[in-house]
Amino acid sequence: MSTPDQPIGIFDSGIGGLTVANAIHRFLPNEKLIYFGDTVHMPYGDKSADAIRYYCLRISKFLLEQNCKMIVIACNSASSAAYDVLVDFFGGKVPFVNVVDPLVMEVVKSGYHNIGVIATKATINSSVYKNKINSLNLQANVHQLATPLLAPMIEEGFYNGNITQSVIDSYLSQPVMQNIDVLLLACTHYPLIKDEINEYYQGKVDIMDSIDAVVREVTRILKQEKLLSNTHTGEDVFYVSDYTTSFEETAKNFYQGEIKLITKALWD
Ligand code: DGL
Repeated sequence: MSTPDQPIGIFDSGIGGLTVANAIHRFLPNEKLIYFGDTVHMPYGDKSADAIRYYCLRISKFLLEQNCKMIVIACNSASSAAYDVLVDFFGGKVPFVNVVDPLVMEVVKSGYHNIGVIATKATINSSVYKNKINSLNLQANVHQLATPLLAPMIEEGFYNGNITQSVIDSYLSQPVMQNIDVLLLACTHYPLIKDEINEYYQGKVDIMDSIDAVVREVTRILKQEKLLSNTHTGEDVFYVSDYTTSFEETAKNFYQGEIKLITKALWD
């Protein structure tokens, strides 16, 4: 039986999940987060679904050992490959929140007809967005494009400047991405380059990411389960499976609070 003073576990392959952690930290300041960035296996987007499931099972086990009351899968590649498996395996113990369903609900509610999705190869190959959107709205046209260079580029600290802009331009100018009304940033790394993507479209296409919708879903579930903390439960803790200076440097720019990385080798 969980209690409100327990932490929330949150994980990603690397830095992208910090966009979600930062939003939860700001919106629910009483909650303590335990973050795990699986930098040994980053990028997840190029891995098989089986490999991603294996990593996610191990990380979730670790977060449960840290006494977490909820686990947020702050990675689209992991959410598409492993959410069902994690719920089957551990679901009875704590609630799991993925980053796909809240964004799907949001875009369908907004009534868009021509929807673009950019994400890692793992997410696009799973067709999770297309299938979930079309199961709620058969009329929606979902145009998908894998953009595998973007997450490693961001992870290395390239999230503004000429290199970033030309990689974005060459992806978004592809025929499949024409005639869309909204673009879904279906990778938790991509909010870090939202300004550059906006620059490309010059306001002609709406851009949505999952961050706010995920924070609302986390809040809803915590309230429903009577697990929302109303007193400060401690400072957030950040683990990585392999320490890299680039992660630490970039992390500091995207999490508004102190970050001290702890190396936790889960794969020995
Ligand atoms: N941030 C992750 C996602 O949302 C993936 C980046 C990666 O390929 O590891 O899919």
